[in-house]
Amino acid sequence: MENLKLFYEDALLPKDRILKTAEKIRPEIERVRNAISRGYDDDRASVNLPDDEEMLNTVKSVIEEKLSLEPKYLIIIGIGGSNLGTLAVQEAILGKLYNLMNPPIKVLYADTVDSDLIGNIMKIVKPTLKRDGNVLLNIVSKSGITTETVANFRILLDMLRKYKKEYKDYVVATCDRDSELWNLAVKDGFTTLEIPLKVGGRYSVFSPVGLFPLGLLGVRIENLLKGAKRMRDKCISTDLERNPAAIIASIQFIHYKEGKNISDFFFFSSDLESMGKWCRQLMAESLGKEIDRNGRRVNVGITPTVSVGSTDLHSIAQLYLGGPYDKFTTFISIRDSRLHLHVPKMDGYSDLVPGIDGKSLGEILNAIFEGTKEAFRKDKRPFIEVSLPDKSERSIGQFMQLKMIETMYLGHLLNVNPFDQPDVEKYKRETRRILAGKKTAQ
Ligand code: PA5
Repeated sequence: MENLKLFYEDALLPKDRILKTAEKIRPEIERVRNAISRGYDDDRASVNLPDDEEMLNTVKSVIEEKLSLEPKYLIIIGIGGSNLGTLAVQEAILGKLYNLMNPPIKVLYADTVDSDLIGNIMKIVKPTLKRDGNVLLNIVSKSGITTETVANFRILLDMLRKYKKEYKDYVVATCDRDSELWNLAVKDGFTTLEIPLKVGGRYSVFSPVGLFPLGLLGVRIENLLKGAKRMRDKCISTDLERNPAAIIASIQFIHYKEGKNISDFFFFSSDLESMGKWCRQLMAESLGKEIDRNGRRVNVGITPTVSVGSTDLHSIAQLYLGGPYDKFTTFISIRDSRLHLHVPKMDGYSDLVPGIDGKSLGEILNAIFEGTKEAFRKDKRPFIEVSLPDKSERSIGQFMQLKMIETMYLGHLLNVNPFDQPDVEKYKRETRRILAGKKTAQ
């Protein structure tokens, strides 16, 4: 397995300072190590998912069972941590244009409550249902009571029931065991897949939340887990210099403390845009906190942004290279793309852009990437580079595991709980009140 590489010479921080900060992470490294021996009893439980063979076998048998129904569509009904990881991996591995490439099973995501979105999903799948073709619904909700997910599920289930007598066979509910949704799903005869209790939404991509839909679409989920496991073992190393999660968390923390409160994830790969959104949620929801671990009001948080190279160089690079010095950048690059296209030689065209005749698009993108880094360097804009060998399952597994453990370490340095999201409740409470037709409490 080729390894993910980390370069941090341009972080604009001396190595001894980074390592001094990393020293502070040792107690948390210890806690993650202990969590590995404690199964699913700890908040850090997601680090055990790559080893969980029982879970993998359960997911694989449900995949096999549902594949035998020969579905033409899979509709994933879930939001936030319940769908962002799946979308990120699906696009990274199968490509952003996957649905347009005539795959055996197309995938649609029902996340927000938007009549146009859900109505269009129904328009897309109805011809298949009318022809007696099959459509699978995978409702994914840890709590089982998320407004958007439940509303969308009820609409889509209602549609399925109208077309399929055996509709129960086509529904998979992924949720906490014994939650209200779980009990309802069991009562109604749907297939259920369990999310281990202590594995929170944004840390759940390697649980049935991500594994079932991804495996169904043909992603090699064992390899995803192998990549994750390899990275996990590196990220619990007490040799701090060789622990990429500890190094990145330390660099990010120092820059945050020095006023760089924006962290840009700059992906030089179009298929990784949704991976950026997954990273954005992981960082924002885990680290943006009002109250610290000692109960003090701190209002901390790093604002994550996502950029895609080279596309966004044409939209936002002016700000990055000319604007305030308030950002720290992580470039994410891919060493080997899947396809290798070359610019053909053509009479009369050579002078439009000199130097690209016969070059591959990869070489051109790389030149743009090198040029971008050089411009950042000259302007003293701090950055690190995470270089993935390719967009294979193993590489993507490594990357996502790195980001999750790094987030735990950053939570430790910032002294906040990276596993909860108490303030999201504020809007949820208000929404429930409005939907129930109640007045605001004075
Ligand atoms: O990461 C999280 O915990 C959240 O983003 C949740 O995944 C999101 O709010 C959806 O919640 P649920 O899975 O309970 O429907």
